[in-house]
Amino acid sequence: MSEKDHIATALLDWFDHHGRKDLPWQKDRTPYRVWVSEIMLQQTRVVTVIPFYDRFMDRFPDVATLAKATEDNVLHLWTGLGYYARARNLHRCAKQICASHDGIFPDDLAGLEALPGIGRSTAGAILSLAMDTRAPILDGNVKRVLARYHGIEGWPGQRTVADSLWLHAERHTPVDRAADYTQAIMDMGATCCTRSQPRCQQCPLEAGCAARAQNRQGDFPGQKPRKKLPMKQRWLALATRAPAEVLLQKRPDSGIWGGLWAPPEFENVTAARQWIARYLSLPPEACRVDPPFLHTFTHFKLEAHPLIVHCEKDRTLANDVECGAQNLQWFSLHPPPSVGLPAPIVRLLAGLRKETPLRSD
Ligand code: ADE
Repeated sequence: MSEKDHIATALLDWFDHHGRKDLPWQKDRTPYRVWVSEIMLQQTRVVTVIPFYDRFMDRFPDVATLAKATEDNVLHLWTGLGYYARARNLHRCAKQICASHDGIFPDDLAGLEALPGIGRSTAGAILSLAMDTRAPILDGNVKRVLARYHGIEGWPGQRTVADSLWLHAERHTPVDRAADYTQAIMDMGATCCTRSQPRCQQCPLEAGCAARAQNRQGDFPGQKPRKKLPMKQRWLALATRAPAEVLLQKRPDSGIWGGLWAPPEFENVTAARQWIARYLSLPPEACRVDPPFLHTFTHFKLEAHPLIVHCEKDRTLANDVECGAQNLQWFSLHPPPSVGLPAPIVRLLAGLRKETPLRSD
């Protein structure tokens, strides 16, 4: 029996006994449902994704409904999942599928890869999981399984390493049961060939695994060369207006928290105080500087210092600032706004809500 047959057969047999068969995106496996799940599952664990996925499907059950939604509504349902470019691309992609493909997903690799946010692996997952077509995938779990099995040295971010992994992925993917095979290799990586404590005795590929033979499971795949993350300091002007509103600004699409709503942000405390003095006509002593919070992004750490100011009812911005021109908007805190908000800002708003309870009189 060839190596390809052996690996696919062993994984499919393992899948029949141990694979996951009742994940939400495994029911009614349409390209739309598989695509949304694959985008959510990039960089995010299954347990985290499930409630977000269920809410998303309730609100946007098909690609046409998603295409018609506002970006704010899409980002709202993504609040807390992180990597918000995924949600903006998802929305752009839905619009493109409706505008240029009659609302039907392309059924070939090139057509799928031409869409926003769909790379080779996501395209492979849609083709195999939703259409049962032979197409390899190479997500994080699959990279780990193949790097260990074949003893492929180096970090998969390097072109030569990725090429080698893709070659193996391609060779192992069977023509028959393409959907089950794709789910099998992902599940095996997620539940058995785990990053820190692989359960090799339960692995269907143990006998042929190079990393296991050398007892070097921890060396594969190679780690990205680590740089110490730089720390950025930022000041956030958190203005409330009686009885319970907060002033937020829609962030530009590029950069962190792209397209989400957050308090106006400044590079130093002086700039934040000047903005508050100028646009809210409040003296420096009206601001309360709260303890900073820390948030880690892929490329840096953020230490954010909230400056809290409370304004009276009906306060508008001074100095002819057009709220619209600066993308500023007052939002009710009760209930919180149905737009995209970064998770740390959701927590800050929850704190503010306690300071500004709705008065019942
Ligand atoms: N990770 C990426 N795709 C997945 C899927 N379909 N099931 C479980 N985990 C995944």
